[in-house]
Amino acid sequence: MTNIALLGFGTVGSGVADVLCENAARIADKTGLSFHIKFILDLREFPNHPLGDRVVHDFNTILNDPEVSIVVEMMGGVHPAYDFSMAAIRSGKNVVTSNKAVVAAYGPELLEEARRQGVRYLFEASVGGGIPIIRPLTEQAAENDITEIVGILNGTTNYILTAMKNTGVTFDKALATAQALGYAEADPTADVDGFDTCRKICILAAVAFGTLVPYENVRTVGIRKVTAEDVAKAEVSGYAIKLVARALRTEGGVYLSVEPTAVKRSHPLYAIEDVYNGILVRGRVSGDLLFYGMGAGKLPTAGAVVTDILDIASRGNAQPLQSLWTRDASIYVPFLTASEEEETLATLGYPI
Ligand code: HSE
Repeated sequence: MTNIALLGFGTVGSGVADVLCENAARIADKTGLSFHIKFILDLREFPNHPLGDRVVHDFNTILNDPEVSIVVEMMGGVHPAYDFSMAAIRSGKNVVTSNKAVVAAYGPELLEEARRQGVRYLFEASVGGGIPIIRPLTEQAAENDITEIVGILNGTTNYILTAMKNTGVTFDKALATAQALGYAEADPTADVDGFDTCRKICILAAVAFGTLVPYENVRTVGIRKVTAEDVAKAEVSGYAIKLVARALRTEGGVYLSVEPTAVKRSHPLYAIEDVYNGILVRGRVSGDLLFYGMGAGKLPTAGAVVTDILDIASRGNAQPLQSLWTRDASIYVPFLTASEEEETLATLGYPI
């Protein structure tokens, strides 16, 4: 029996409880593992929830309990989520997170400390919602020479742009629906202005290339200025406007960008619609790999969290494959050369 503690009982946190409880028999059958949610840390009480008696308000209750071996951080925001994660790792606990803001800000320190303590820091749900991408990309990075990642990494903006293209609704109406469906961040600015996508491409590039570029350095343009006219015009010419993130390893360093892009109908990202995300990974060994799935939403994201929990609980003390990142702002190149730009855009389309 593995005792776990959930930090945060919002959309993702309650989803993790649902997935673990509803699939307990299946998990036991396939892996021989069982889990007990011992504590739930939240500011609120949940008197009507079956796990309402597990709620605590003091993180030290979890930190000081030697039975808790996995802490699952789904709080959102950088502080105190980072501080709690680091404290848990320092006290020898594994940490799983869906919190891209923490991973993009403090990934190198948390991964380093986890390595030092002989525990894991896993973040599958921080990018791509329910898409398994961090684990496969970590494995690819060990045996493949990854040169480029191009992706649609935000479900909310993809939902909005798809609704504008296919049903002609206004930006505001599409955003309200995305929020009602639980896709958007609490502050949708993070989605709409591209900050969420920016943190996600920084994480993917760090997994692929081993170096975290500070997200503040990355040129990031959101979709606020994309008009219905832009969308319609692109469609007539055989393109669909998407919020595209790119990461390229060039001779000069790592190039990252987030910008609305008119994607050609022949490109695999063209067909990625609604809340779905798509990530094209290009490697010299693998050629092109395409990852596709629900980029946001309660159960898909919770499912990704649970895969990390299973990974930790099923591996015992073996030394697993886990990335270690350096932090290096100087590796970032803000512009591509004309020939690099031409090569990467040849099949994709053009930034608008
Ligand atoms: N707000 C995010 C999105 C949630 O829409 O993609 C998943 O990170």
